[in-house]
Amino acid sequence: MLILGIDTSCDDTSASVVENGTKIISNIVSSQSEIHKKYGGIVPELASRKHVEMIIPVVEEALKTAGIELKDINGIAVCHGPGLIGSLLVGCSFAKAICYTTKIPLLSVNHLEGHIFASFLEEPVPEFPFIALIVSGGHTSLYRVEGFSQYKELGRTRDDAAGEAYDKVSKLLGLGYPGGPVIDRLSKKGNPKAIDFPRAYLPESFDFSFSGIKTAVLNFVKATKSENSEIKTQKPELLSDIAASFQAAVLDVLIRKIEWAIKRTWIKRVVLSGGVAANSELRSRMKEMGEERNAEIFIPSVSLCTDNAAMIAAAGYHHLKSGRLADLTLNPKAYLPL
Ligand code: KG4
Ligand code: ZN
Repeated sequence: MLILGIDTSCDDTSASVVENGTKIISNIVSSQSEIHKKYGGIVPELASRKHVEMIIPVVEEALKTAGIELKDINGIAVCHGPGLIGSLLVGCSFAKAICYTTKIPLLSVNHLEGHIFASFLEEPVPEFPFIALIVSGGHTSLYRVEGFSQYKELGRTRDDAAGEAYDKVSKLLGLGYPGGPVIDRLSKKGNPKAIDFPRAYLPESFDFSFSGIKTAVLNFVKATKSENSEIKTQKPELLSDIAASFQAAVLDVLIRKIEWAIKRTWIKRVVLSGGVAANSELRSRMKEMGEERNAEIFIPSVSLCTDNAAMIAAAGYHHLKSGRLADLTLNPKAYLPL
C-alpha cells in the first residue's frame, strides 16, 4: 500500500510516498529557514504564504521521485495539528481537495504521532511497549506507547519546549535561527562545566520546564555584557562555553527524565524523535545511557527527526489499515493533544 504523506505544520513544506508504513519511496522537504532567519524566528503569516506557493510543486516532486502518479496512491495522510494554524490549513485544504476529486481515502495524523512513527521507517523497528520522548521546537513530551494509537502521556513541558529554548538562547547570543544546529556545533568547542546553569528536574514529575534556563543564560549574558559589549566578537571562547553549558543543562534534564521513566515503567525501550533529537551530543549520550541501563534506544536518522512527511505517511498507513478514515469535515487544530 502506498501512502502520500503531507506535512505543513510549521515552516517546512513536505510530501512523501511511503510503502506499507515502513519503506520510504520519496521524501521531499522544502525548508523555509532562509525566509525566517532574518526575523530570528518563524513569522506565521510568511510561513502560510510560502506553503501555498510550495505545496503543489513539493507534492509533484514527491510523486515524480517515487515514479508514480496520484492514481497509484492508496491513501493521503495529512498532518492536521498541532502546529501553526495558517500553515496547517494549507496542507489540510490541499489534501481534502485532492481526496474529494480523486476519491482517495483521507487520513488525518497528529504531528506528534508522526514523530513517534519516524522510528518505524528504519531498521530495527521498536517493539511495543516503548517510551517515546518527542523533543522539538514546539514540544517536549514523554509518552508510554502500548501499541498503535495507544499513547499515554507521562509528562510534558510546562512552559518552553527544549527546541524553543535552543532557538531563544541562540537569538540572544546573536547566533541566528534555527538555534539547535549552531549551538550543537559551537558546544563541541566549549566546556560544558564552565557555567553552572540551573536544571529544572521537577522531582516526582515527568513534566519539563525550560524557561528558567533561558532566563539564566540571559542574566549571565547581561552581566557579562556590562564588562564586554560583544561576547560574540570579543570573547569567542566564552560564547562556546555558554553554548556548551546551556546544552549540558538541557540534556541532563532530558536524559534524567528518561532514566526515571525506564525505572518507573520497567520498559527498557526508548524512542527519541523531534528536531532536538538531531542533536549530536544528545544522540551519543542517549546511546551511552542505553548501554549503562541495558535499554534499547531508537533514534531515527537526523533527516527523519526534524519535520518531514514520511513520518506522517508512516502513521497514516496504520490509520488506513485499521479503517480510521477522516472525511471532508476535517479541520486543522493549532492545539491537538495526542
Ligand atoms: O521537529 P522540528 O523540525 O519542528 C517542530 O515540530 O518544532 O524541530 C525544530 C527544532 C528547532 O527548535 C531547532 O532549533 C531544533 O529542533 N533542532 C536542534 C538541532 N537541530 C534542530 N536542537 C538541538 N540540536 C540540533 N542539532
Ligand atoms: Zn515536529
